[in-house]
Amino acid sequence: WKRVTLRHLEAKYLTNQPITMVTAYDYPSGVHVDRAGIDICLVGDSVGMVVHGHDTTLPVTMDDMLLHCKAVARGADRPLLVGDLPFGSYEQSSQQAVASATRMLKEGGMDAVKMEGGGGSRVQAARAISEAGIAVMGHVGLTPQAISVLGGFRPQGRNLDSALQVLDHALALQSAGCFSIVLECVPSPIAAAVTAALKIPTIGIGAGPECSGQVLVYHDLLGMMQHPHYVKVTPKFSKQYASLGNVIQDALSQYREEVSSKAFPSPVHTPYRIDDEQTSAFL
Ligand code: KIV
Ligand code: NA
Repeated sequence: WKRVTLRHLEAKYLTNQPITMVTAYDYPSGVHVDRAGIDICLVGDSVGMVVHGHDTTLPVTMDDMLLHCKAVARGADRPLLVGDLPFGSYEQSSQQAVASATRMLKEGGMDAVKMEGGGGSRVQAARAISEAGIAVMGHVGLTPQAISVLGGFRPQGRNLDSALQVLDHALALQSAGCFSIVLECVPSPIAAAVTAALKIPTIGIGAGPECSGQVLVYHDLLGMMQHPHYVKVTPKFSKQYASLGNVIQDALSQYREEVSSKAFPSPVHTPYRIDDEQTSAFL
């Protein structure tokens, strides 16, 4: 596959092959995700937390997103590129949603967009985006942009009302034309039931093994942030496949020590020689 498209995702879904998705925020992470053969690369608004150091995703703007999308698009040629619509960029009206989604493709270089929530006006926005010719991914369960009304980053779908709402929203987003839906932080049996009820793939995060695919945040997966502040908010469901935070800290400390002790730069890292005798004569 030169470039993953919705048709490739559908083929995987129909043959029960799990769809792989990871976030990326800049050129190097885009390259890494591409080279790993990941199907979908999400430029997530989680960028506000893992890159910009905010406590929530709420401060992220459309302009922030576009800058990150452009950098990722330069690095990732093969995965389907999905740009996350940030808080405040699609809630007012379907027109606003289509305008923001259009910018994600025209300016950001994305192939598709993702938006949170499955209530009435969100479903209309999803339909409008899809009718404008832009592939749209839904996102239900824990929707971090709704932290103000959810009262924190809390799992959803843990009682009957909440579980039925997750299912309801997922079905509504499917009929609005979404090509896939992220299920975040819901109990595994609920995610399994929603996945079984839909005819489009679900992508789980903290939603157990029975979704049609899985997504993790780049920095979480790589164990990038291990300093005390971040450890508090590293989600329980995120497996760390590496401890890059430690690798980076060790490398930086070693560099500091070698500069302090004048072990760096050694002759190997001092490549330039004077190439005429006149200059040498001056020294
Ligand atoms: O912003 C993000 O990283 C996301 C994923 C966790 C799905 O929305
Ligand atoms: Na997001």
